[in-house]
Amino acid sequence: MNRRVTPIRYVCYAERYFVLDEASMAQLSRIGVSLDSELLNRFDKFIAEKGYDNRSEAFRDLIRDRLVGSAVVASKSPVVGTVTLIYDHHARLLPEKLADLQHEQHEIVISTLHAHLDHSTCLEVVVLRGKSRGVQQLADRLISTKGVKHGRLVMSSPQAVSRHSGR
Ligand code: NI
Repeated sequence: MNRRVTPIRYVCYAERYFVLDEASMAQLSRIGVSLDSELLNRFDKFIAEKGYDNRSEAFRDLIRDRLVGSAVVASKSPVVGTVTLIYDHHARLLPEKLADLQHEQHEIVISTLHAHLDHSTCLEVVVLRGKSRGVQQLADRLISTKGVKHGRLVMSSPQAVSRHSGR
């Protein structure tokens, strides 16, 4: 196999120092990444659409996203999450059922925001913190409660993107 670098492959250096944690500016590392030009073109188009000023910040966000994703998948990882629920205020006993579920798991529920969107529609955002599995299970129960029209869980792992993780 010909191991020479072909003309379409080249090294794309990040414009700025490549860091995982912007707060720890004393520990900057700079890396070079080899990409084929077609992939780089797609990446540049993607980050332009997303409004990034430069490739470095986009690289950092992609890496953080993957690290968070890995932590969130691990069932015992500490995570935070928000569950957004849209439901009908008039659905029989639904507000009570949702409140009961949150009281049962009060050690996971940090806070709840409730907004009355119109005469019958409620928006509720429940902030959760705990082990990944527990947070997902409670979110599933809230979202699957009869009468909830739409629900979505978004999880994150602050530790997965912090240089202080594990200390
Ligand atoms: Ni309401």
